[in-house]
Amino acid sequence: MRLVVSECLLGSPCRYDGSAKTCDEVCALVKRVLDTGGEVVTVCPESAGGLRAPRLPAERRGDKVYSLDGTDVTSSFVLGAQRSLSCAMAADEVPFAVLKSKSPSCGVGLVYDGTHTKTLVAGNGVFAQLLEERGIPMATENVVRACTPSVEHPVAVVLGSGLGHLAGLVKPVRRIPYSEIPGFPASARPVAGHSFEATVGTIDTVPVVVYPGRVHLYQGYSALEVTSLVRHARRLGCRTILFACATGAVPQAAPKGLGVIADHINLTGCNPLVGWSDAEPELSLIDTGFVDMNDVYTPYLRGIAHGVANDLGLSLSEGVLAGVLGPSSETQAEVQALKTLGVSYVGMSTVLETIMAHALGMQVLGLTLATNYAGEVGVSHESVLCAAANHAEEFESLVRGILTML
Ligand code: HPA
Repeated sequence: MRLVVSECLLGSPCRYDGSAKTCDEVCALVKRVLDTGGEVVTVCPESAGGLRAPRLPAERRGDKVYSLDGTDVTSSFVLGAQRSLSCAMAADEVPFAVLKSKSPSCGVGLVYDGTHTKTLVAGNGVFAQLLEERGIPMATENVVRACTPSVEHPVAVVLGSGLGHLAGLVKPVRRIPYSEIPGFPASARPVAGHSFEATVGTIDTVPVVVYPGRVHLYQGYSALEVTSLVRHARRLGCRTILFACATGAVPQAAPKGLGVIADHINLTGCNPLVGWSDAEPELSLIDTGFVDMNDVYTPYLRGIAHGVANDLGLSLSEGVLAGVLGPSSETQAEVQALKTLGVSYVGMSTVLETIMAHALGMQVLGLTLATNYAGEVGVSHESVLCAAANHAEEFESLVRGILTML
């Protein structure tokens, strides 16, 4: 695992005013990475560009960076960003980065707008922009904090076909039959490979709530019913949720085996936010149904998943999931169409649950086990379960590795 991190988050007094911005959760992450034999590259692009602290604050304005007194400091920021990029990329392993929020060099997703009036705009700092262009997963310290598990904020784990055995790893504190979960359909019975009791407890000391099975649209349940477990997890305090699902790999787009979901295309024809205002209390957190879906699968969690897989020597693909209604599998024409759409995996769960989790402000990790190729002859529920069983050990070690790294 290779982590790039802004020095000021670790206590270096390198910010413009000579202060640090120590973040305990990021310091703890660095320790875990080092303890598991990983590499941590610390960067301060501004120092690397020759800017000494204390100095005047600077902000990005378009492609330029200006100090408070109007001096154009773009060249120092660009030089520092390029030097920091060389350090970040000086190994074969693709890194992931935890960068100081809002900074003109390290800001991820939001930066000050160049007017020095504390106004934030969408955008990246100069260094973060270089990382984004190379597809490096990035997060601010705020995301690391939000993903850090605690007893108050356990990690929710929702398991799909054939992957439910992971529930057996939980040191239980409390069991919750799904029949007690508001909105979960009373008539639902677990199909083979699922069981309907959530376990609250710990896996390797990490607080978790594990849901070892789910219901699907193809069983005739509504989008709201299918997502009831997500609202339950949110109500229990979970801020991070891991979904695992079996899928078909689109030939030539993804291999069979373990994968990380980078994004999705909702082809189910349903959305759990339709009618959100009439539903359960959690949904009152959502102002309107118009929820921004950018980075719905948290890049930081994807970075952790790849880092853990690399440490364990597991191959882990990444791609776009198409969520379909099912239960029939895909025709050859549909497989061709999915490929044209840029789809890597196709499955009958997870997409609606992810929309719900994201709307409720949760950080989402989607892991998939591509049990077959989409359109393959002879795929059945039994063959999916059998393929899942063959990968059970790999899947279990990946999930344990991820949980203990959070
Ligand atoms: N298609 C859709 N869903 C699936 C598949 C598939 O091929 N395999 C497992 N879940």
